[in-house]
Amino acid sequence: GYDLTVADEGDIRLNLDPQLDMNSEGYRLEVGKNGVEVTSKTPQGLFYGMQSFMQLLPAEIESSEKVDGIEWSVPYVNITDEPRFAYRGIHFDPCRHFMTVDEVKKQLDVMAMYKINRMHWHLTEDQGWRIEIKKYPKLTEIGGKRMEGEGYEYGGYYTQEEVKDIVAYAAERFITVVPEIEMPGHEMAAIAAYPELSCKGEQGVVRSIWGIEDIVLCPGKESTFEFFENVLKEVMELFPSEYIHIGGDECPKVRWKSCPKCQARIKALGLKSDAKHTKEERLQSYMIAEATKCLNEKGKQIIGWTEILEGGLVPGATLMSWIGESGGIEAARQHHDVIMTPNTYMYFDYYQSKQVEDEPLAIGGYLPIEKTYNYEPMPKELTKEEQQYIKGVQANLWTEYIPSFSQVQYMILPRMGALAEVQWSDPSRKDYKDFLTRIPRLTAIYDCYDWTYATHVFDVNVDIKADTVKHVLSVQLSTMANDPIYYTLDGQDPTEESAKYTGPFTIDKDAILKTMAVHPSRTSKISIDTIRFNKATLKPVKLLQPNQESFSPDGPVVLVDGRRGNHSFDTGAWVAVAGNDLEAVIDMQGETTLSSATIHVYVRKDAWLFDAKKFSVAVSCDGKNYKEVASQDYPAMQPSDGDTIAEHKLSFQPCKAAYVKIKVASEKRMPEWHLNAGLTPYLLVDEIILN
Ligand code: ACM
Ligand code: ZN
Repeated sequence: GYDLTVADEGDIRLNLDPQLDMNSEGYRLEVGKNGVEVTSKTPQGLFYGMQSFMQLLPAEIESSEKVDGIEWSVPYVNITDEPRFAYRGIHFDPCRHFMTVDEVKKQLDVMAMYKINRMHWHLTEDQGWRIEIKKYPKLTEIGGKRMEGEGYEYGGYYTQEEVKDIVAYAAERFITVVPEIEMPGHEMAAIAAYPELSCKGEQGVVRSIWGIEDIVLCPGKESTFEFFENVLKEVMELFPSEYIHIGGDECPKVRWKSCPKCQARIKALGLKSDAKHTKEERLQSYMIAEATKCLNEKGKQIIGWTEILEGGLVPGATLMSWIGESGGIEAARQHHDVIMTPNTYMYFDYYQSKQVEDEPLAIGGYLPIEKTYNYEPMPKELTKEEQQYIKGVQANLWTEYIPSFSQVQYMILPRMGALAEVQWSDPSRKDYKDFLTRIPRLTAIYDCYDWTYATHVFDVNVDIKADTVKHVLSVQLSTMANDPIYYTLDGQDPTEESAKYTGPFTIDKDAILKTMAVHPSRTSKISIDTIRFNKATLKPVKLLQPNQESFSPDGPVVLVDGRRGNHSFDTGAWVAVAGNDLEAVIDMQGETTLSSATIHVYVRKDAWLFDAKKFSVAVSCDGKNYKEVASQDYPAMQPSDGDTIAEHKLSFQPCKAAYVKIKVASEKRMPEWHLNAGLTPYLLVDEIILN
């Protein structure tokens, strides 16, 4: 909103100094008696220095309009700053839900503020092909649209002119756009446009539901290779990026197994299955190697997701580690470059709050900002030498459940601030508490730009610990900035008239705990925790077989804490086992009459969460000799089974028990129909209810 002129001499000076002793993105920012001085080796470093300078000014500087009554001052500072990682990315998926050119530019604006220098742009999917390819117009004419419900068409794509405009807009902000053109899976939009690309060549439609499609590119046909090489040629012309991402994730191999052309190719290439890789996985590797050749000819490098490890890594490939960190660790050990983007810390499509009932529907998971902030991308398992292959960090945002750009912003802000510190700062300089003190300043800047953001950091942290010795739940409440907290235990919404929190307290009977905090800038959301006692609640419990400790950091005690889990599977409320059964003994602390046992199992096939195979209850008077009182088998899961929280209740003749043994048998291997057939699924139980 200001009309300013650039002078030869001024109080804000930008200096290029090739001799500066720091990396090319680093800068020095000095504010003192003589004005403001930003120095860097490169224009990019100057740009970052100016971002820091702007963030020292009152937030209103970011406003697009002139604001009166503001004192434009910054503190005297002397800052020397350079990034830890050269690749600092965020991923953006306009395929599941389309985002306009203006929205992509807004995304780039946010990234620039955070000194993020790569936008990984996911442009092709089962649910839509979003980039114009001149040689194959049907990719966008047909592949760019899908039918949703009763005759409702959903679509959108970027013309090559729009792509160039976005690439240039990004470059002005020192952001490289890394396009992702998926292969050989997630390809249904292309196959709907050109059916001959698939094994059977049957006419299909652009996929209108989420998940994973079995129909993929056919590497048995020469024309498939011609197709993606022609596509990549046009893509390389549009994107100056050194890297082109070829996807490679989640490609079912069922079609290849029964395709005569694919099998002939396997034979001709002499590909063999062994203990590490199937011959079909090696065929995928061959395809990726062919794409790599095509990219290398133009001086480009490939990036692929974790699954490009299947069938062996192609020389020169960079791996993006999304299924946790293990793929990245393996690739670094093989001396391949790695970008860390583990779903466990970096999937911004996951819930930000445990209270998912209050959130827009999300894909699942639970990723609070603190977890992202505290992520350390250098795996301890790697030697110093191997760690050099970790080139960067990225967060991913898949948009299956994110229909609008304002919801994109809700999911990424302020988590992107936490991401930026993981990417830029040395671990010795990171401090979550200190980060929180800066959040209100960031949200003031978001407000000036009218950016949508999540406010969970202003909410009450509710910490409830079950104590089976004292038979109470201990409650501790806190907030980011020690704001006053009010609470109720009877289910009423708290107000500033409700009990004020003064320190930890205990709960020993049914309660609905609701809390609320008052920050100077806003009143927090109301938290809700429901506690329901049964005869097992707060009785000592132990597991006879191992559990997956990362799911429930508080231990098996959450099975008897009177609290249920919800559709977010990693909130700590679900106890998980994998590869063995869930077997628990509860010490009833004296003979107790019982006539039923109930458990709930979280079932969600795509997340590898399988239902129980069998549930049984045995009782004992001495903790040594047990007698089974009830047992039930359940049928194996079928492809058509939906996602659910399944209730399993066993009723039996009333009996006296001093000890109760619960056994829930798990599925040990995922069945043939599952994408990850043969791997070990999880069994998740939140609470053991005895009455
Ligand atoms: C991915 O999330 N499928 C890379
Ligand atoms: Zn085939």
